[in-house]
Amino acid sequence: MAKAKVSFVCSECGGITAKWEGKCPHCGAWNTLQESRESAAPAHRFAPLAGASPVRRLSEIEAREQARSPTGIPEFDRVLGGGLVQGAVVLIGGDPGIGKSTLLLQALASMSRVGKVLYVTGEESPEQVALRGQRLDVSGDEVDLLAEIRLEVITETLLARKPTVAVIDSIQTLYSGELTAAPGSVSQVRECAAQLTRVAKQTGITLILIGHVTKDGSLAGPRVLEHIVDTVLYFEGDTHSSFRLVRAIKNRFGAVNELGVFAMTDRGLKGVSNPSALFLSQHAQNVAGSCVMATQEGTRPLLVEIQALVDTAHVPNPRRLSVGLEATRLAMLLAVLHRHAGVATFDQDVFVNAVGGVRIIEPGADLAVLMAIISSMRDRPLPQGLVVFGEVGLAGEIRPAARGQERLREAAKLGFGLAVIPRANKPRHAIEGLEIRAVDRIEAALDILD
Ligand code: TYD
Ligand code: MG
Repeated sequence: MAKAKVSFVCSECGGITAKWEGKCPHCGAWNTLQESRESAAPAHRFAPLAGASPVRRLSEIEAREQARSPTGIPEFDRVLGGGLVQGAVVLIGGDPGIGKSTLLLQALASMSRVGKVLYVTGEESPEQVALRGQRLDVSGDEVDLLAEIRLEVITETLLARKPTVAVIDSIQTLYSGELTAAPGSVSQVRECAAQLTRVAKQTGITLILIGHVTKDGSLAGPRVLEHIVDTVLYFEGDTHSSFRLVRAIKNRFGAVNELGVFAMTDRGLKGVSNPSALFLSQHAQNVAGSCVMATQEGTRPLLVEIQALVDTAHVPNPRRLSVGLEATRLAMLLAVLHRHAGVATFDQDVFVNAVGGVRIIEPGADLAVLMAIISSMRDRPLPQGLVVFGEVGLAGEIRPAARGQERLREAAKLGFGLAVIPRANKPRHAIEGLEIRAVDRIEAALDILD
């Protein structure tokens, strides 16, 4: 056997180096290089299947809309962009215990009514899966089960049985006998994903790979996994609350940032079709440090409560902590607040939180974060029924957010009476029941609170 080639792969960026270093020379991350052994590939492995493909004109190629098969779970279909595409490979990641296996077993069970499905479990015994199936009340459905972690056996089974959809639970448990590395290592995960993707593309089997998430929230294993697959979904949410969100990070067959909302019940995950009021904590009366923002997730507006706590710091460098919002953005907002509104926080600890375990990545949350901070500093609640959105720029200007109209309409529907929004988002026609204050500077926005 040829001598295995040793290289080191960065788990952050997927960059390859010849020798181990503490810092990845490609992306600068520390301690992310992991050993990867590759034995020389047999010559046929990457050879084209049936001769080389000819060069063709783009305009001559018939663009066919990919047929989608719905999973039978409407919220899941929404994130997938309408259903599963034949031959697509979907990677779904999330914390342990968040409900990945549950959701996919439910989806497979409902898809088994129209086609052949296969559930490959490498983590749990068939008995455990059967027990879950009983709880989910899907034991009557025709889901084929394979308890296996050897890649070669799995690919053979896929080729022999040709299911329409197969779930691999999870990609980290698989191992290929051709590599010496342990299951879950960078080279195993990458090789197994690549092999399975090849099988999916060749045969048209739709594959759903379950992946684990590391503590800092990225998919364990190399980032290259995200490049191999067609769609990347993340499960989010607080394991302490019953709500779970599935978000599309990448989707070759649909829009990203679509959000599926589920509630975990004793009979599995149930879709929540009207989630906009889910992330508001129901205070009996208004409290200081709380501001409701109208955000937009894909095609759907959501109202989320942003909370802030500003408290005297007792250490030389005060803490800035954000849960569900970007931490670097918080530091920037505090600087803007100081420079343009004259509010200093250098001797204060600042904590901000998006209620309900939701993660907000759009900059449209800026204004709500600032309002909540000001409210907490002054220990005065914001006006009753206030809803806010808008991005704050470094010059203190308030920039518009996408789909302002829809956010406002949703807020009005849920009974909010006052909206502070960027001037560019001001609707041409009044919205019934909603008083709108359009602002273009941070100073003007804060004046409303006086
Ligand atoms: P699971 O799907 O096993 O999580 P993952 O595969 O992401 O690790 O989900 C498990 C959690 O969900 C577990 O803590 C129990 C809970 N659960 C319910 O509350 N109701 C149910 O019907 C099921 C099947 C699980
Ligand atoms: Mg699981």
